[in-house]
Amino acid sequence: MSMSKNRIVTIDGPSGAGKSTVARLLAERLGFQYLDTGALYRAVALYLRRQGAGEDVSDETLERLLKGLNIGFSDGRVYIDGEDVSEAVRTPEIGHYSSVFSARRPVREFLLSIQRAYPERYDTVVEGRDMGTVVFPDAWRKFFIDASPQERARRRYLQLLQKGVAVTMEEAMRDVQQRDERDSQRDIAPLRRSPDAVYIDTTSLGIEETIDKMLEFLHGE
Ligand code: DC
Repeated sequence: MSMSKNRIVTIDGPSGAGKSTVARLLAERLGFQYLDTGALYRAVALYLRRQGAGEDVSDETLERLLKGLNIGFSDGRVYIDGEDVSEAVRTPEIGHYSSVFSARRPVREFLLSIQRAYPERYDTVVEGRDMGTVVFPDAWRKFFIDASPQERARRRYLQLLQKGVAVTMEEAMRDVQQRDERDSQRDIAPLRRSPDAVYIDTTSLGIEETIDKMLEFLHGE
């Protein structure tokens, strides 16, 4: 349980729902700092791949490897042993492995205390899959950001195209579906909407409209 005296706004939701953009802008508007926990899971995946870990790696090996990992997040950038890996973690391959390894208990336990330590000194907007349900159940405000699978695949497709990664719309759709399934059906900390989270369907909303809705809720209370 978080003992933080600072205000925490949680944003959970499936991949491609636009959480990162929304969380970053909302933090800016509120004057809060921002934590992208997906980036932490991606950095862990990159590190584990570099250490040669595959999908069938044992819990014992995971625990041993994670002992050697020094991970950091600051000003929207993620670091492994001081190396800025913010771009390196954004490939489709690391996206896949981050989803695979995030289902494993040693990985979730490793990141739990790191995530909880982050808002200790500042008001924070945190973004991920289990922020409102597991990591910060007593957060100040909670949101669940969603969009239709088609719209999320479209956003993912455009995002990758922009980065020069060659994908088809079918591949983007398959990626979104596989990650939805894995992230919401795993045993530990699956993607779930916390009953006290405000649900926002962004399928037909722009980023500004989504932020406005959130601010309305935050200020209206
Ligand atoms: O948000 P993202 O696509 O960058 O997250 C990458 C993967 O990390 C996602 O498929 C599931 C996992 N993840 C998680 O299990 N819990 C979180 N709080 C954040 C991400």
